[in-house]
Amino acid sequence: MQKLYSIFTLSMLLASGTGAYAELVDISTPNSSLILNATKGERLMILHYGNPVDKMDLEALSKESGELVYPVYGLWPQNEAALSVTHADGNRTTDLTVESVSTSTTADKKVTTIQMKDPSYDLTVKANYLTREGSDVIETWVEITNNEPDAITLNRFMSGHLPIRKGDVWLTSFQGAWGNEGYIIEEPLLPGTKLIKNKDGVRNAQGARAEALFSIDGKASENSGRVIGAALCHHGNFKILIDTDYSDNHHFFAGINEENSEYHLAKGETFVTPPLAMAYSDEGIGGISRQFHRWGRDTRLHNGDKLRRILLNSWEGVYFNINEPVMEKMMADFSDMGGELFVMDDGWFGTKFQRDEPTALGDWIVDTRKLPHGLNGLIENASRHGLKFGLWIEPEMTDTKSVFFEKHPEYVIKAQNRQPVTARGGAQLVLDLSNPEVQDVIVNMVDTLLSNYPEIDYIKWDANAPIMEHGSQYLDADRQSHLYIDYHKGLENVLNRIRTAHPDVTIQTCASGGGRANWGILPWFDEFWTSDNTDALQRLYIQWGTSYFYPAIAMGSHISASPNHQTRRQIPIKFRADVAMSGRLGLELQPSQMTEEERKICKQAISDYKKVRHIVQLGDMYRLQSPFDNKGVASLMYVTPGKEEAVFFWWKADNNVGETNLRIPMAGLDPNKRYTIAELNRVGEEQLTFEGMTLTGNQLMAKGLEMPKGYTPYYSSRVLHLKAVE
Ligand code: DGJ
Repeated sequence: MQKLYSIFTLSMLLASGTGAYAELVDISTPNSSLILNATKGERLMILHYGNPVDKMDLEALSKESGELVYPVYGLWPQNEAALSVTHADGNRTTDLTVESVSTSTTADKKVTTIQMKDPSYDLTVKANYLTREGSDVIETWVEITNNEPDAITLNRFMSGHLPIRKGDVWLTSFQGAWGNEGYIIEEPLLPGTKLIKNKDGVRNAQGARAEALFSIDGKASENSGRVIGAALCHHGNFKILIDTDYSDNHHFFAGINEENSEYHLAKGETFVTPPLAMAYSDEGIGGISRQFHRWGRDTRLHNGDKLRRILLNSWEGVYFNINEPVMEKMMADFSDMGGELFVMDDGWFGTKFQRDEPTALGDWIVDTRKLPHGLNGLIENASRHGLKFGLWIEPEMTDTKSVFFEKHPEYVIKAQNRQPVTARGGAQLVLDLSNPEVQDVIVNMVDTLLSNYPEIDYIKWDANAPIMEHGSQYLDADRQSHLYIDYHKGLENVLNRIRTAHPDVTIQTCASGGGRANWGILPWFDEFWTSDNTDALQRLYIQWGTSYFYPAIAMGSHISASPNHQTRRQIPIKFRADVAMSGRLGLELQPSQMTEEERKICKQAISDYKKVRHIVQLGDMYRLQSPFDNKGVASLMYVTPGKEEAVFFWWKADNNVGETNLRIPMAGLDPNKRYTIAELNRVGEEQLTFEGMTLTGNQLMAKGLEMPKGYTPYYSSRVLHLKAVE
């Protein structure tokens, strides 16, 4: 049901069950309602989150007692809490009651703020809800202000809490690993506690991810059923806690992981939590994904409305074996295939210590042994081949083997009285971004690079180490617990300054692959490297899981060599290309080692991707057949917002004799439009029977098309371009 108003906050008084007057706050989006009872002097209660509620039904809701919006620790210490405070006088209990409700509105967004205060202490908590015109995503966060006579300690400080009524609620979460990011886990919510967490310090999306889906009506389905999706927008350690106790609700909490991170708040100081973005859909998990993709592209992803270039990244092609002639040959070959941007990965820098293996990080000076004409030489070559130029850096890290570290051992994260614990290559250390001096060093390094070489069009910003020991050489003894939080505040400061000076450079966030796929970091980045695993078959799974919350435009998706370097699997080039084309297309190989057939197909893929990139990168995604269902086929499609064009991907992920050839009904088209079908990326395959034909959206969505069966002994795949005819 579509409500007539889009962003609407209604504050109205209704007689409540207790005989008092309930002050209802209605935070509505086009297809959802969040109804709170914010009666002054009472605790803030949530009465409803889900389907849009008609004004006429509010009175009945006002009779319900609801659940606490932001449970605090101490008065019911047996329950899980969103906030736990040790007050200036040592009291560990907190109570919060509503003081006021206010709204602030700008052109296309509205923030509703409910201010609460502890009746016995000068502690104020503001719960904020941001809604945007036309979007169903609600962003919530809290601001905790200490006006007590002295410092207080925050022991837990979640961004939000949502009670979800028990029934047959299923949780979908992402519990991946390096090379297997975004792996989907679906499970019913049973009594007990489910904890999804990250404690890496830097790469907060490599294993578990900070997102969750709650399917209210049993196991999630793609296109139907009531689903709540939530994403914590934070790039540091996080905690998602779902407590299923004896009450009528599951209790979902999401926020910064407070473990070993208690935060001391000085008198007058305010702590602001990262936002928790939530959406409700009655169109299954697909509905949630499309909402998050749109919201993300429109409001969070850096330059989310600009088409991305097709790039060749040098890593899997040459690893550390960078040199000028090899780089130039890669550029020439890529340019012949129609490429647009050449990115030189790791291995280009180092003077006293050279980067021929994963050591010697930190001296961002060109290794003239490998590149005698410096970056200018490469930039000129790229431009001669009609390509833009990009570069790999890892600015948050250094190595013990670097001039930088020799000069500034005080800049690394290290506990007192201990030797630094090293990571990658036995030498890598994380810089202490809680230190403003370190922040300046990083900003200067990146700024100098981008200012000296304004032709640099793209940066791959890598981060390959966790925080290996809890210790800051900068923070005072009583603020050591701030490290995990202040590191990320420092990082935001760095990124803000770099982005203010260089808004147009495309920057990829990479963290040992997909370790930073999180909506917290993407306001400064244009995309993420989805995984270091470039095996096309496994990428179907990795990209599928990642697509639950992230749009294709943000997912670096590259064609790599066969056998694949991570899995040793051999996959035909057509399938590799067809998988890569479903994200932000790139290449990750040495073109001079490609066969003629591989070159031909890549050239075709690049040319065809240019025809449909606007649909893949800016369209709405409809997942059709999941590889996780083990049906041998995976399929998805993208449709332009006006439904004039679509791209349909079909991948035969397995091949068993005698198996049923699944027919895949399409989705997202206009049933009343007629679409002409043209196959993309076809090099030598038999023409499909429906090539060039025009079918109604209705037929395509009701029945789908008959795809070929067992086309090659291993993998086959097809990509179709659909265009509506007038
Ligand atoms: C890890 C990244 O995920 C890779 O793509 C590559 O850039 C290497 N680092 C380089 O050291």
